[in-house]
Amino acid sequence: MNLLITGGAGFIGSNLIHHVIDDAKVAKLVNLDCLTYAGRLENLEQVAKHPKYVFEKVDLRDKAATLKVVEQHAITHVMHLAAESHVDRSITGPGDFITTNILGTFNLLEACRECWLSPKSKVQSPKFHHVSTDEVYGSLGATGLFTETTPYAPNSPYSSSKASSDFLVRAYHHTYGLPTVITNCSNNYGPFQFPEKLIPVVIQSVIARKAIPVYGDGMNVRDWLYVRDHAEALWTVLGKGKLGETYNIGGHNEWANIHIVQLICDTVDEFAPQLGGNSRSLITYVKDRPGHDRRYAIDASKIQRELGWTPAHKFEQGIRETIRWYLDNQDWVKAVLKK
Ligand SMILES: NC(=O)c1ccc[n+]([C@@H]2O[C@H](COP(=O)([O-])OP(=O)(O)OC[C@H]3O[C@@H](n4cnc5c(N)ncnc54)[C@H](O)[C@@H]3O)[C@@H](O)[C@H]2O)c1
Repeated sequence: MNLLITGGAGFIGSNLIHHVIDDAKVAKLVNLDCLTYAGRLENLEQVAKHPKYVFEKVDLRDKAATLKVVEQHAITHVMHLAAESHVDRSITGPGDFITTNILGTFNLLEACRECWLSPKSKVQSPKFHHVSTDEVYGSLGATGLFTETTPYAPNSPYSSSKASSDFLVRAYHHTYGLPTVITNCSNNYGPFQFPEKLIPVVIQSVIARKAIPVYGDGMNVRDWLYVRDHAEALWTVLGKGKLGETYNIGGHNEWANIHIVQLICDTVDEFAPQLGGNSRSLITYVKDRPGHDRRYAIDASKIQRELGWTPAHKFEQGIRETIRWYLDNQDWVKAVLKK
């Protein structure tokens, strides 16, 4: 397997690379990433000198450069994670979400189509795995779960750009026979997440004794999955997922935002009492995000039933490990925020 992982310097991508680099099936692992503010090579220090690892600083919006990577490394498998990924940024500046998430995916699909489906192609049994989000399904009320057949109803520029890329991947399978799979996953947490997303923002605010911003009434509900469980699920789908199929990935783990925030406050107080304690007093409700989806919840029974994957980490354990990681890695946090 000559594996191309796009977005490998980001949060999920770097955890995924650590997870798969030593797998015997992988002959070469190419990380294609243009290193936006969210991409950090420091996340990959442990694999940088690995004999199988190659880094390609390429922007997916550059069609010719993207094709060159797929061609030169004789790529047989793609795990496509590179994206603009932060909903708030998509509201203040949607342009990059359109060019990277939609056009970038198109360029990568075209590169694979050219290298894998042309009559002179020698690539055997290739696979294109598109990594997507549950946000494409829109918002739920108090009950119900997203299944793989839930109609798409994206509400933010981020989720609509991901929905568009899912549709392109689907179309390349149905129109050209490109061998694809898609996964739609719920919110991830864990080490190396850029401190702009809820969990690291809250941890950092507590450490800095700054106000902890909570949108609206704090009762928006998300399903949370430990990033290392997501990496294992992605690897399972690349290996065993049926072509043309979609698999939902989730943690069976719904939390209202305010309850996660309180849990983080209490855990930091326990781990680092020298910071002063009573961190819940820092919680500050702020004006709600425009179009803020109320609730996401995933039915992940298909991937369990058909491919045998379930999350291995309990949330209570994973969140403690994550908080510990951020407390122990303040140099990393300062470096990424400086960039
Ligand atoms: N974080 C989550 O909770 C979550 C949940 C479900 C799905 N996803 C999806 O998983 C993928 C990875 O998410 P993440 O949280 O790791 O994102 P991230 O923002 O941490 O990392 C994205 C990476 O993509 C790279 N990138 C961005 N634009 C690029 C371009 N034009 N060319 C090449 N590289 C580019 C960045 O440099 C960065 O390394 C995304 O596709 C996202 O939609 C994320």
